[in-house]
Amino acid sequence: MHFSPPTSAVETVAPSHGAPPQGHERAFDVAAYRRKLDAFNHSHNYRMDLDALFSVVREMSFTAILDVGCGTGFMVREARKRHPACRVEGIDRFDFDGEGCWVADVCSVDFSWQRRYDLLTMVHAINHLVDLERAIENLNVLLEPGGHLLIANPNPAFVKIIRTLNAYGHLETRGGDDTVVAYLGAAEIDRVVNRCGLDRVLHREYGEAIRCTVHGTDMVIRERELLSYRKRG
Ligand SMILES: C[S@@+](CC[C@H](N)C(=O)[O-])C[C@H]1O[C@@H](n2cnc3c(N)ncnc32)[C@H](O)[C@@H]1O
Repeated sequence: MHFSPPTSAVETVAPSHGAPPQGHERAFDVAAYRRKLDAFNHSHNYRMDLDALFSVVREMSFTAILDVGCGTGFMVREARKRHPACRVEGIDRFDFDGEGCWVADVCSVDFSWQRRYDLLTMVHAINHLVDLERAIENLNVLLEPGGHLLIANPNPAFVKIIRTLNAYGHLETRGGDDTVVAYLGAAEIDRVVNRCGLDRVLHREYGEAIRCTVHGTDMVIRERELLSYRKRG
């Protein structure tokens, strides 16, 4: 469904179906991206992401969820199954035709007229935002005081090590996503999110582990990070 802001809204939302993503000049193949997301959504790793995410969600109290950068709406459907009493919606800049999924670019849309949510989730989406600060400011308008923003993300340290090992021929190259703008870590996300009055209340690493010894210190670097922020008030 496409966003239909009232006429007073300054920035209306252009249906982005088939449009090139920001920062990418070549034509963007939405059908091919959908196939990629479908495979990802049915992978072992994605199941692990959802298990980690819902283990935290289970402990929260909320009535309305918005999944930001929802892709085809896999997470939206899963949340509806697990929390049938809740209003669950998604938003993505591409029209993947997901039920209850809005089509809008969160970096530019004016949400001030919209209804509110007490839980925003972002599953492998925050690294794809071209203007993170603007997106977080916009999304913050949608979040009720006391509400949560929950982010599941690759751990940038893990990504860097895997890429280095690939470059030296020590591992087979894994598939990546070339629409990632930057691999962000907790500290970088904190800086942006804190400015909007949200405080980090959880940082959990999960998934495959790299164990190494650096200058005599043993370290474990895990594949994924889960970050939860609570809005003050
Ligand atoms: C790697 S995909 C993850 C999709 C979904 N969260 C999932 O787990 O299957 C990243 C998604 O973020 C969306 N996205 C990127 N920038 C966006 C923006 N500015 N506004 C809305 N969605 C955006 C992309 O279109 C894409 O569907």
